[in-house]
Amino acid sequence: MGGVGVVNTGTAGSHVTAERLLAAAATNTPLRRIEMSVAGRTHRAWLKLEMANPTGSVKYRTALGLLTGLQRRRPLSAGTTLIESTSGNLGVALAHLTTRFGGRFIAVVDPKAPPMLVERMRGLGTELVRVKTPDRHGGYLLSRLERVETMLRADPELRWTDQYHSPDGPGVHRDVTAPELAHQTGGRIDALFAAVSTGGTLAGLGEGLSKLVAGIGLYPVDVQGSIALGGTAHPHLLNGIGATRRSSLLTTRALHAPIHVPDVRAIALCRMLDRQTGIALGASSGAVVAAYLAAVADGGSWRCPVLISPDGGDHYRHTVYSDDWLEACGRLDAVRAVEDAAAADRITFTVTGDVCER
Ligand SMILES: Cc1ncc(COP(=O)(O)O)c(C=O)c1O
Repeated sequence: MGGVGVVNTGTAGSHVTAERLLAAAATNTPLRRIEMSVAGRTHRAWLKLEMANPTGSVKYRTALGLLTGLQRRRPLSAGTTLIESTSGNLGVALAHLTTRFGGRFIAVVDPKAPPMLVERMRGLGTELVRVKTPDRHGGYLLSRLERVETMLRADPELRWTDQYHSPDGPGVHRDVTAPELAHQTGGRIDALFAAVSTGGTLAGLGEGLSKLVAGIGLYPVDVQGSIALGGTAHPHLLNGIGATRRSSLLTTRALHAPIHVPDVRAIALCRMLDRQTGIALGASSGAVVAAYLAAVADGGSWRCPVLISPDGGDHYRHTVYSDDWLEACGRLDAVRAVEDAAAADRITFTVTGDVCER
C-alpha cells in the first residue's frame, strides 16, 4: 500500500498515522490445523482465524485498506463523515477506526445484520440507516446501495469507502494478509478456500499469493442463492457471504469454479464443529468448511490447504447457533437433517495444532 499518510485527529496536536493503522492490520491472526474425518478418512486443513483481528473479523484489515486509500486521496479529519453499506463486520471495523480520527460514520444496514454487530456500531457512535425493503433478488444489497447513492447525491461532503469497487480493499489482503499466510505456512500453502461477498478478500489474497506461491489453487466459496459469482438468486439465511449482484472485484481468470454451499449445510457444520472442538466459527466459515469437504469428495488433495475463517461464532449466537431463531425461520428441521446425514457419513472434526508441517 503506497502513499499512506497522516490521519488528523479531532484533538489538536495529536494524530494517528495511517502507517500505524496499517501496521496494526498485520496482526498475524492464528492458523489452526483441523482434521476432518469423513467415513474414516482424514483430511487436514488449516483454518485462518480472522476473528482474532481487532473488531473480530477479516474486515478490520479491509477497513484499514479502504481508509488508507481515502486518506491518500484527501486527508481524513474530524470533519469527515464516512458512509458505507455493510452486512455488519465492515461497519464495526469502520465505526471503530473512525473514532480514532474523530470523524463521523453512517452505516447503511439491513434486517439480516447480526443484532450484536448493529449494537456495537451504535455503541461506537455510528449513525444507523436501516434499509427494510428487499431488492428484486430477495436480498438487501441493492437496496442498501441505492440508499448510499441517494445520500451521496444529497450531501456531496459524504465520503464513501466503497468496499464494492475500491482497489484498496483487496490491496491490503494482497500486501499484508497474503505475505502473512505465505510466511505462516513456510511457503507450503497450495490451496486457498475463501468466502465471497464483494470478492475483495479473495481478489487480494489471490493476487498476492499467486506471486508468492507457484501453482496455488484459489477456490471461491459462495452460498446458494447468491449471484456474486453467477448462479440463480434466491433468499438464504447467511449473512456476510454472498451478494445480490456480481462481484466487481473478482475478475481474475485464475480462480477455480465457485463452490456454492446450501445455507443449512454451512450452519450445520458450524454447529457440529462448535460441539466437537469448542471453536465457534461464523456462518461464512461454515460454508468454507463445507466447500473444502465438497472439493475433497471430488478428489481434491492438497499438502497445506488454508480455509479463511472471516469471523467467529459469537456474532451469530442469536442466529445460526440459536434453535429458536432457526425454528422461527422454518429451517431447524433442515439443519438437523444435515447434521444427521453428516453423522451418518461419520464426519468429525479435531483441532490439532497450528504448524503447517508436511
Ligand atoms: C462474515 C463474512 N464472511 C465473508 C465475507 C466476504 O468478504 P468479501 O466481501 O471480501 O468477499 C464477509 C464480508 O463482509 C463477511 O463479513
